[in-house]
Amino acid sequence: MEIELKLIDDTYVKNEYVEWLNDYEIVKYTEQRFEKHTIKKIKNYVKNVTESKNEFLYGIFHHIKNQSKFIHIGNIKIGPIKPEHNSTEIGYIIGNKSYWGKGVMTESIRLATLICKNKYNLSKINAGVYENNIGSIRALEKNNFIEEGTLKSQVIFENKRINIKLFGKKI
Ligand SMILES: CC(C)(COP(=O)(O)OP(=O)(O)OC[C@H]1O[C@@H](n2cnc3c(N)ncnc32)[C@H](O)[C@@H]1OP(=O)(O)O)[C@@H](O)C(=O)NCCC(=O)NCCS
Repeated sequence: MEIELKLIDDTYVKNEYVEWLNDYEIVKYTEQRFEKHTIKKIKNYVKNVTESKNEFLYGIFHHIKNQSKFIHIGNIKIGPIKPEHNSTEIGYIIGNKSYWGKGVMTESIRLATLICKNKYNLSKINAGVYENNIGSIRALEKNNFIEEGTLKSQVIFENKRINIKLFGKKI
């Protein structure tokens, strides 16, 4: 499957995107689950990111070449970038559940890593993951991210305190 990352703006915020963020199954390992999302709020969020100097929101697209079609299936955010340290956080989501478990995030993290290195001249990428988000952890590990630490009992997940694992990669 051909996956491409492209910078997006608020014109990409459609009802489907709002539904991703209001679907507990999709956002349960993220802080998004505490919000009731609306098209207005998300457009506003995307606008702010578009205007910011240190955050970059990339759409994850399935490129169906023989139909010249790009299907927007999720997002990966590079940022906030810390220019003093040439480092960044990344965060990501595949909203279209029919694309889960097909290697899309493994490929998207690989592509985002290249963008961090070649476009933003960064040398370190960090990602924090709920300890029970096995798919996310595997996608990082498959990109040679290393587990660097643990924030113990950091968040409440379904009435239980759980850890956040910190992953990082020098690039
Ligand atoms: C978690 C998520 C990012 C994984 O993306 P994905 O494209 O489905 O992952 P991949 O297909 O690249 O899979 C990577 C590895 O994880 C495994 N995996 C994926 N989902 C899994 C799951 N729910 N449970 C166990 N393993 C899983 C895959 O089998 C693969 O491992 P393998 O190659 O050793 O078999 C995606 O499901 C998602 O966006 N979820 C909702 C939002 C979210 O949780 N974002 C991350 C916040 S840190």
